[in-house]
Amino acid sequence: MLFLAELVTLLDVRGLVSWHVVIGVLLVPPALLKTAVNGWRMLRYYARGRTYRAAGPPIVLLRILGPFVVLATLALLGSGLTLIALGEQRSRSSAIPLLGDWVSLHQAMFVFFDVVAGLHVLARLVPALMLVSGRRKEHPAAAGPVPGRTARVAVLVLTVAVAAVTAALVLPAASSWKNDDFGRFERPPGASAHP
Ligand code: HEM
Repeated sequence: MLFLAELVTLLDVRGLVSWHVVIGVLLVPPALLKTAVNGWRMLRYYARGRTYRAAGPPIVLLRILGPFVVLATLALLGSGLTLIALGEQRSRSSAIPLLGDWVSLHQAMFVFFDVVAGLHVLARLVPALMLVSGRRKEHPAAAGPVPGRTARVAVLVLTVAVAAVTAALVLPAASSWKNDDFGRFERPPGASAHP
């Protein structure tokens, strides 16, 4: 949902930049949590944890894509945060080899993310639809209640709280991006910044 809302802000990112930043920052803690959880599952699998071994590895495509999905997600969010840390003027004027400036780097990470996350979602969607339609049986290791429900809910609530506090802290730092008419378009000579 949050990710879809972030995509909507891209329809007019200059006009909706505050929303773009808030929603983007709200995505950071859940993305870190998801990375940590999957990292833990991977570690337990390779450390020969009994239940993790019984559940088996994901399909090869997902195993190959995994590191790229993590890299692309962190690079997209990290480059967005870098834009805030640098401010609009420095982000647009600093020269990055091949790409131009930091905004172009953020855009390039968006394209990288779209490709790998798109493939990842497709690879997850097909088995999920097969499970729902009954064409595939649930893995026996996944049957029955999973212990630790309270702890999981507590971690989720904490993540949402951290996300809200982080967004509230970062938004004021993004004030240099609120000026809708800076940078991309030249102002006509003599025109004032605020009509
Ligand atoms: C920490 C999170 C994020 C922050 C702080 C952030 C910040 C920014 C800022 C300041 C801009 C420049 C806006 C302007 O040109 O006035 C921008 C542009 C952009 N952002 Fe993000 N962003 C974040 C996450 C994301 C995510 C998750 C996506 C993808 C869904 C994304 C995609 C883009 C794209 C494609 C542009 C370029 C739009 C254009 O120039 O037409 N950003 N971002």
